Amino acid sequence: MDQHSPSPLNEQQRALVLHVKRQILQMRQLRQFEWSPPSRPNSESAPEMQPEGESKVPLTVTMPEIQQAMLDQIFYDPVVLKHPPSSIYQHAFLKKVIYMIEEEGLYDISEDLMELFTELLMTVPKRPEEGGPPLMPCFKSYSLDRNCQKVVTVMEEQTTISSGTTGLRTWEASFWLAEYLIAHPEFVQSKNVVDIGCGVGFLGIACAMLGAKKVALTDGNMDVLTMAQKNIGYNKAPCPVSATALDWENFTNEQIASLEAEVLILSDLTYDPTNIVPLVTVLKAILVRGVSAFMSSAIRNPQTFIDFFAHIRKECVGVQIDEVILDGLDHLFFFDEETVQTVKVFHLHFP
Ligand SMILES: C[S@@+](CC[C@H](N)C(=O)[O-])C[C@H]1O[C@@H](n2cnc3c(N)ncnc32)[C@H](O)[C@@H]1O
Repeated sequence: MDQHSPSPLNEQQRALVLHVKRQILQMRQLRQFEWSPPSRPNSESAPEMQPEGESKVPLTVTMPEIQQAMLDQIFYDPVVLKHPPSSIYQHAFLKKVIYMIEEEGLYDISEDLMELFTELLMTVPKRPEEGGPPLMPCFKSYSLDRNCQKVVTVMEEQTTISSGTTGLRTWEASFWLAEYLIAHPEFVQSKNVVDIGCGVGFLGIACAMLGAKKVALTDGNMDVLTMAQKNIGYNKAPCPVSATALDWENFTNEQIASLEAEVLILSDLTYDPTNIVPLVTVLKAILVRGVSAFMSSAIRNPQTFIDFFAHIRKECVGVQIDEVILDGLDHLFFFDEETVQTVKVFHLHFP
């Protein structure tokens, strides 16, 4: 086949390329990578086969047209080129695809794909476990839809704790809350949204993409806030987004008033027992009648969680806490299956 004029992709092939793209943009670990889109309840035909009338060859990323589409729509996509996944990741992905093509022995390796792989091979640093430098922060892009039309790009660390803070990477709890708000954008649309303990800012920026009127990312750690500020700049949010210092242990009423909060979003802030009192103090100041809070938490230590709710009920008398049903949400984000946790989402408000 002429590699430069591939035949147009059919629906299943396009879905496969988009599925691969969403995983690459999030830098999903290759050992957990899904090489075919999961079958969806209302898809018209099995995802791994060609539609009726076409040859029933298994749909795989090794097919020449898919190889070319991955180059055009992922690796050479101008949007991806602006904020690409790490070169170590790109190199590892292509190495795996080349291995799969050779193993199958059905198709040739595209010359363009081989050229990109060779280019990366010459520049890619060694991995830390091979004696290379520590992993640097890198771009991860999270698609808020299956077609990669609405994407939030953030620079984040690849390690759990960096520079003594947990705030320099996106935590799983925020993916669950994002999936909930994607399914219910009416909760943030045309609202002033305030992200408390925003970390790198993924969730707040996602709310901006979902139609918020204004978003304030707030955090008490200055390194985290600097990262969040840069991340605002990597996205073309359709509304104003700011990054503001808000330390739960040291804030003023003027600071709270200036946020003009209508909706609060909080993700993964109930992990540390010493944080309960300061967190509830700031919540008490912002969560007044007419303001709603959406909070997601990974349940690591159930007692910390119980203590948090006991304290908030005591301080914010009359607050209603509704657990949000997450069943049936469209899962757009990929979780590390080795560290997957129970995540709960709550809606806090005054009736
Ligand atoms: C586990 S991270 C969660 C980040 C983000 N919400 C997410 O889900 O990806 C906790 C965040 O809370 C912030 N934080 C912890 N204590 C704080 C305090 N006293 N005042 C303000 N922010 C604080 C940290 O700086 C960090 O960014």
